[in-house]
Amino acid sequence: MKIINSVSELRNEIKSLKASKGGLKDVKTGLVPTMGALHGGHLSLIEKCRSENEIVVVSVFVNPTQFGPNEDYDKYPRTLEADSKLCEKAGVDFVFAPSPRDIYDEYYFTHKETTLICPPYDVVNKLCGKSRPGHFDGVCTIVGKLFNITKCDRAYFGKKDAQQLFIIKKMVKELNFDIEIIGCPIVREKDGLAMSSRNTYLSNDARKLALNISRGLYKAKELAQKGVKEADTLIDTALAYMGGLDVEYTEIVSVDTFEKIDIIEQGPCKALMLVAARVESNGSKVRLIDNIDL
Ligand code: PAF
Repeated sequence: MKIINSVSELRNEIKSLKASKGGLKDVKTGLVPTMGALHGGHLSLIEKCRSENEIVVVSVFVNPTQFGPNEDYDKYPRTLEADSKLCEKAGVDFVFAPSPRDIYDEYYFTHKETTLICPPYDVVNKLCGKSRPGHFDGVCTIVGKLFNITKCDRAYFGKKDAQQLFIIKKMVKELNFDIEIIGCPIVREKDGLAMSSRNTYLSNDARKLALNISRGLYKAKELAQKGVKEADTLIDTALAYMGGLDVEYTEIVSVDTFEKIDIIEQGPCKALMLVAARVESNGSKVRLIDNIDL
């Protein structure tokens, strides 16, 4: 496994590994984009990517353009050494760990602006995008850049970031990227907490409170499975578990359109309940997200 910082080096390495594996056409490259602080959720993406592709690239890059001015860009966990060990064990070929200057042009550092991929207003300015203006423009921009850099055939994303996955699929379709996007199931701790790099911010007490997010989601699903169809009732049920949390939103949307729905239809995976909530931990608020199909 090689750890690479530069775009040109990664391109050359992928090209020669492809050639050594017997030709450019049939050798598939899979990409797992991450911001590092790898956990079991990332490892499940890497495992799937490894099983489906001849070449596996994991990017580890805390992307500045997707963080707002008052967000946790500076304190986001950076654990490249541990991440690299996990990647090595998982059979990754290349860890791409660039610095912001390897990724963004000088213009970005002098003008605080760069060319962006901006998905339509209506899909980015709701749910997570409502409280994080510009977030999905930054995500799509870095993901688009990583697609161009790696020329990957497939890319793997976790379903925990459901809105992100929806937006990336839309971007790929609308911008004609010739890449298959694979969404992978949420990985949870034994007690139900969705795995997240931000869980490392949680004190023991905060972690206990954070568990109420998945508890609420599971309870709503239980009710939906018993035949309750009204979104408001299901949302109130979930919210009843979330006392002590600063809930930013709880919504039910169609998985196909990400539009809000009032009455859920029968059948698997048609409706998603999504939550974003902040938990007080060691004097600061940790923002967590989770979702469940009803
Ligand atoms: O989900 C993430 O970790 C990030 O948003 C991504 C997709 C790696 C882009 O920086």
